[in-house]
Amino acid sequence: MSKIEIHDIKELIESNYPPSIVKKMINEVLILSMQVKTDYPDYRNWFTTIQVPGLYDGTRNIIVAHIKDRIVGFVSLKKTAEEKKICTFYVEKNFRKNKIGTILVEKAIEYLETERPLITIPLNKLHEFTKIGEKLNWEITDIVENLYRTDIPEVIVNGYQTQNSENIILPAYDSIPETVKQYRIHRIKKYINQLKNYIYRLENKN
Ligand SMILES: CC(C)(COP(=O)(O)OP(=O)(O)OC[C@H]1O[C@@H](n2cnc3c(N)ncnc32)[C@H](O)[C@@H]1OP(=O)(O)O)[C@@H](O)C(=O)NCCC(=O)NCCS
Repeated sequence: MSKIEIHDIKELIESNYPPSIVKKMINEVLILSMQVKTDYPDYRNWFTTIQVPGLYDGTRNIIVAHIKDRIVGFVSLKKTAEEKKICTFYVEKNFRKNKIGTILVEKAIEYLETERPLITIPLNKLHEFTKIGEKLNWEITDIVENLYRTDIPEVIVNGYQTQNSENIILPAYDSIPETVKQYRIHRIKKYINQLKNYIYRLENKN
């Protein structure tokens, strides 16, 4: 594979890199991230009104991986006194399993100054993060339903209970596969109970 180049957008801004090139890079990240954030409501608005201004006020950063002038992956980050978070972490499908994700997460850790940043991952994507997470001792702290969307639960890693997460359903288990297994068992039990209640109501109608 051709050479991977890493660019830290906050550093480029601070070193007075030509603003038009920085703007183009930010726009390319937005286009690429729309591929993964399609199901996150209002993502574009969040990106342009929160993530981009944060690049200029010192609270946020985006680190990108280029191959021959093409952005193939990026990690977008928040660093404040209250929160050190990976907001989005993405490598294009055709370029995966080439260590680009590993390099990006190393850079993210360097910038955030913690090996265990908060990150939330859709449950159906968790397996893609398992190796990276296990190497860094990342810990599942919750699995939350209806956090950003209603169809797929969000796994909270290295985190805490958020204020609007009403549906905490599991304690953390020791390993990611065990957590997923327990989550599935929980879901099935929940459906069985709902079904039993439904049958009971039907049988006792009138
Ligand atoms: C997670 C992700 C960033 C990993 O990127 P990547 O460039 O493939 O990562 P790497 O090549 O550095 O792989 C790191 C390790 O994970 C393993 N891995 C990568 N993809 C995997 C998969 N789909 N299943 C199992 N293991 C996987 C690799 O084999 C590697 O293991 P090793 O270090 O033992 O060799 C990428 O899969 C991705 O973008 N997924 C979608 C992300 C997403 O949904 N983001 C939104 C929420 S933030």
